[in-house]
Amino acid sequence: MRILAIESSCDETAAAVIEDRTKVLSSVVASQMSTHGKYGGVVPELASREHLRAIVPVVREALEQSGTRLTDLSAVAVTVGPGLVGSLLVGLTYAKSLSFATRRPLVAVNHLEGHIHAAILDAHLAGTPVAFPAVALVASGGHTHLFEVPEPSQYRLLGKTRDDAAGEAFDKVAKLLGFAYPGGPIIDRLAPYGDAGAVRFTFAKMKGNALDFSFSGLKTAVLRWVEARGMEAEIAARRELLGRTPRPSEEEWLAVTPLPTLDLLASFERAVITELLTRAAASAEKIDARSLIVSGGVASNSGLRARAHTARLPCPVHFPTPALSTDNAAMIAAAAFPKLERGEFAALDIAAQASLTLV
Ligand code: KG4
Ligand code: ZN
Repeated sequence: MRILAIESSCDETAAAVIEDRTKVLSSVVASQMSTHGKYGGVVPELASREHLRAIVPVVREALEQSGTRLTDLSAVAVTVGPGLVGSLLVGLTYAKSLSFATRRPLVAVNHLEGHIHAAILDAHLAGTPVAFPAVALVASGGHTHLFEVPEPSQYRLLGKTRDDAAGEAFDKVAKLLGFAYPGGPIIDRLAPYGDAGAVRFTFAKMKGNALDFSFSGLKTAVLRWVEARGMEAEIAARRELLGRTPRPSEEEWLAVTPLPTLDLLASFERAVITELLTRAAASAEKIDARSLIVSGGVASNSGLRARAHTARLPCPVHFPTPALSTDNAAMIAAAAFPKLERGEFAALDIAAQASLTLV
């Protein structure tokens, strides 16, 4: 059985072909990073336009790389939400047309379920399958959620962010300091040059669910730190660099980033990692989990991966490879297989759902 999957919920146009649940025959991702970089975030109108440009060549390449003809397909899978509605619509409309033209069923996938399946798929490929019940931490630009996963395809919400998502915190802090979007990968690369113990951040105690996250206080603390230092010239130098080149290299960023700012980045990254891992570990303990899955764009953070492997967590932890952590379509195909096997198909009039929840 072969599934062609399409993902276009945010700023990557992606298509993949997977055979028999776990054989990734192709996974093509066209990133829009250089389009949105200088704006400090995704510009929805530009994202839709870029998806329209990329969708046909990306799907064609995924089919070609995997040696798949449309008649070889068992189903067409697509992300139906959550995400930017204009972006989702491009992938969804194209998937519907392919499903109609090839008379293959359409499988609608929740983007967050895709991220969870990326980790399940990769753990299987690495020969260390995820043991259930598991806890899944999905940390991306739009979401920071903790789910209990009693078995694949069953989810219960344990906690989520009350304000910004973890990736959004990385992106907003980067934007504030004059770096490009997305901020996560830049902070990841620059943080090792700073001292993570240099700036102390305190977390406000939250009432209610102890497994909920909050990142807005951290963002405000960074803003206060910046205001107190009058960093206008330094920030202007980075914005000027970004004006000259859409994707500056690590060396170029380092040349316009003095040590105190590198210390700030390292300390901020450490605080985000602590917030994520503390609540993930508490969730694993609460449900007596046999494994912890960490996925979503933020899961590709090298500091987070290193800390998770040295921290005393109550169970083994699984990260997808960085390529499967950020948005891709292989994860959508992986999540679609159990649905295909259950005969859970979508009608051709299904709508894109910007705020779709998983549970
Ligand atoms: O899952 P994803 O590709 O798209 C969404 O579903 O949002 O996640 C993108 C988010 C962005 O906020 C980006 O800054 C963050 O993931 N991200 C990272 C890293 N790579 C991507 N955050 C921290 N460290 C990274 N290496
Ligand atoms: Zn995502």
